Amino acid sequence: MPASLIIGACWGDEGKGKIIDYLSKTADYVVRFHGGNNAGHTVINRFGKFAMHLIPSGVFNKKTIAVVANGVVIDLEVLLDEIQMLKKAGIDVSQKLIISPRCHLIMPYHKVLDNLYEQAKGEKKTGTTGRGIGPVHADKVSYNGILVSDLLDTKLFKEKLRLQLNLKNTIIKALGAKPFSEKEILNAFFLLRKKIKPFIQEPYPLLHEALAKKRHVLFEGAQGTFLDNNWGTYPFVTASTTVSGGITHGAGVPASALSTVLGVTKAYTTRVGEGPFPTELLDKIGEKLRQTGNEFGATTGRPRRCGWFDAELVRFAKEINGLTHLAVTKLDILDTFPNIKICTGYTYYGKPIKYYQTDTPLLGKVKPVYKTMKGWLSSTKGITSFSQLPHPARIYLLELEKITRIPIAYISTGAKTDEIIKR
Ligand code: IMP
Repeated sequence: MPASLIIGACWGDEGKGKIIDYLSKTADYVVRFHGGNNAGHTVINRFGKFAMHLIPSGVFNKKTIAVVANGVVIDLEVLLDEIQMLKKAGIDVSQKLIISPRCHLIMPYHKVLDNLYEQAKGEKKTGTTGRGIGPVHADKVSYNGILVSDLLDTKLFKEKLRLQLNLKNTIIKALGAKPFSEKEILNAFFLLRKKIKPFIQEPYPLLHEALAKKRHVLFEGAQGTFLDNNWGTYPFVTASTTVSGGITHGAGVPASALSTVLGVTKAYTTRVGEGPFPTELLDKIGEKLRQTGNEFGATTGRPRRCGWFDAELVRFAKEINGLTHLAVTKLDILDTFPNIKICTGYTYYGKPIKYYQTDTPLLGKVKPVYKTMKGWLSSTKGITSFSQLPHPARIYLLELEKITRIPIAYISTGAKTDEIIKR
């Protein structure tokens, strides 16, 4: 299996971090290829508990090289904090972390602009993570970005920063906030530059060589299919390409190199931030899912919205990403629910409607069609074999497989990396 991709099949927070930590045991390279520190991949393994924001979750394995490829936007302070956090836990990344010089930098003004735009939108806000993700991508596509490679050329970095501050401070002042000082940013970035310099290297030839030698390269998707900037619930999306094709522009690797595309979904559905969510439960059941599943964001701590499993979404995720398998996480969270529903599709004014036929306002109005399954009312926590699962839990999973038409390869039964069933 030379190249495999792990991707979120819903709105992010599907439990990708744990699955990546588990699967990266055989990986030579683990590659982040989009997003930034809006991601929060939780990993609980023999080193401790970690919320990984930028460094790929596969970094914990001795032989695995962690790559932050060009599609990732980088907040240098967050990256350096993460390197320190790993060092404290006994993981020295000095010989095993590669940062692409093509990555765009999240500058301090991007974070301020992110929050100013959200405030200006008021009730119509996106509900961003406030990490500057939208503004840094806007600069990237409008030719205003500052790259990691620019850090290495003092004159160029100063010129680019001056130009950007002229533009950004004008907007920031107009929106009533305090402008940035060029000197302060320069001083801070030259300090950060020293620390980051040893990690800067173009990963393109390494990845292509690894693929040619049939080494295992694991791509770590962040966020999820329905936060994709084109195919998600726009404008309630993130700024990057979260679907499988993103590996081409985000890491320079053709999608045809992939032999496995593993979609990760919870045994139910969650979403953070605004936007339509057809199976959302605004009642006691939703609250019970949130509390039992500890559904609070790893990045922002915000409560996640919770609802039943949505097979229409997952079928679309299969088609657009070319999912070959599914990993279903957090099965144990459903242990105490007497009845569990699966959304098998949507209707609009009584007529069936597919996800791709909707736009964002329409998706907010569709009615989910449910199939009710019997709960198992016993603990599945830590179970590692399919045959040991209670009968109704097996029936539930087989039904998910049938309705989504995707084979389930992994079932996660707890937060720890070894609490997993491999089928
Ligand atoms: P941004 O990516 O911070 O600009 O936020 C845009 C939208 O994507 C918001 O609804 C966020 O809550 C959501 N989002 C961004 N990253 C993640 C993630 O890693 N998990 C879940 N939702 C996310």
